[in-house]
Amino acid sequence: MKNLLVTGGAGFIGANFVRYLLEESGFAGKVVNVDKLTYAGNLGSLEGVDKNFPDRYVFVKADITDEAAIEKILLDHEIDTICHLAAESHVDRSIEAPDDFIQTNVVGTFRLLELARRHKDKIKRFHHVSTDEVFGSLGEEGHFREDTPYHPNSPYSASKAASDHLVRAYHHTYGLPVTLSNCSNNYGPYQFPEKLIPLMIVNALEGKSLPIYGDGKNVRDWLYVRDHCRALWTILKQGRLGETYNIGGRSERSNLQVIDSLCAILDRIVPRKGGGHAELKTFVTDRLGHDRRYAIDFMKIQCELEWGPEESFETGLEKTVKWYLDHSEWVRQVQSGDYRDWMRRQYQL
Ligand code: NAD
Ligand code: TYD
Repeated sequence: MKNLLVTGGAGFIGANFVRYLLEESGFAGKVVNVDKLTYAGNLGSLEGVDKNFPDRYVFVKADITDEAAIEKILLDHEIDTICHLAAESHVDRSIEAPDDFIQTNVVGTFRLLELARRHKDKIKRFHHVSTDEVFGSLGEEGHFREDTPYHPNSPYSASKAASDHLVRAYHHTYGLPVTLSNCSNNYGPYQFPEKLIPLMIVNALEGKSLPIYGDGKNVRDWLYVRDHCRALWTILKQGRLGETYNIGGRSERSNLQVIDSLCAILDRIVPRKGGGHAELKTFVTDRLGHDRRYAIDFMKIQCELEWGPEESFETGLEKTVKWYLDHSEWVRQVQSGDYRDWMRRQYQL
């Protein structure tokens, strides 16, 4: 593995992964980050990376559906490994407007696969980063395993399921050297404040209400983002070609439990005048088709590749709250219209 293409490297997991690769993994090659810079892609999340690794890090602004642009990147940088994270990722947005999800997640993945097939002599591995949401919703009991049948319920999860099927089919049909991973909900630094944990932190700090969909008893299995990055790196190095690996945190929490834990941390670190942060909790109309429970069985990656989560939910949540407290400027930038102007000035885009 010499020249690694990361798609979506300016997003939440992508930016953490690019940093992990360059700063922690021991990888000695070049990282090429290709990202379209949608609302969710922020070069501010990679501040310092280009300066600290001028010879080993390259950013290219491009859309993964633009075959010519991506082919040029593959050839110019002699890419031998692809780690594909670029996607539209927010379920609520997919319910409101699914079009971009089909374009990027399905068509974009298809274009990348076609390119990898065309340059099969050079591409040693294509890793596809996916979600546990492809498996649908669990009842009170049970866990998703790698052989759990797909049953996606939202436009987002259906688009990710479609892309997973394409990746597997390209291995089966054309012998493309693929691996896949299906991971549970991530949290940590650089997550766009539309997802549950960062939204609740940012709202609570501003004294705004904390919107809880439905009865708040929906359960997610939370994983600290650095643990996901470690898992991706482990699979890139040792994952068996053609295989899929489930990744999870063994940290099932209801949304109410998550929000109460966040409020307790905030009450301790930044007490609120006139009452606790939990007073901001507000029950709102439920999400359409809201999946009830996700939980991951990650025995396969644990036994085969010796990966397991290192961060506990409690320590990870505390680190995350402190990160958002220390990075109010990042939050302001990604939420504000002037972010695009700042980025154009900074990076001559
Ligand atoms: P994100 O929304 O924070 O980032 C996605 C990135 O992809 C952004 O930088 C965006 O600009 C880029 N992008 C979008 N469309 C593009 C296109 N057409 N061409 C090039 N770049 C494009 O998402 P995330 O939370 O970092 O998720 C990354 C991947 O991990 C996704 O594939 C997602 O399905 C998967 N995943 C996420 C989670 C989670 O909890 N966040 C869990 C499991 C799997
Ligand atoms: P989210 O972070 O959007 O991730 P996903 O839908 O991919 O699991 O939501 C996590 C859970 O939190 C989900 O059950 C929906 C719920 N939720 C709220 O209750 N309020 C909110 O404002 C948001 C964004 C999510």
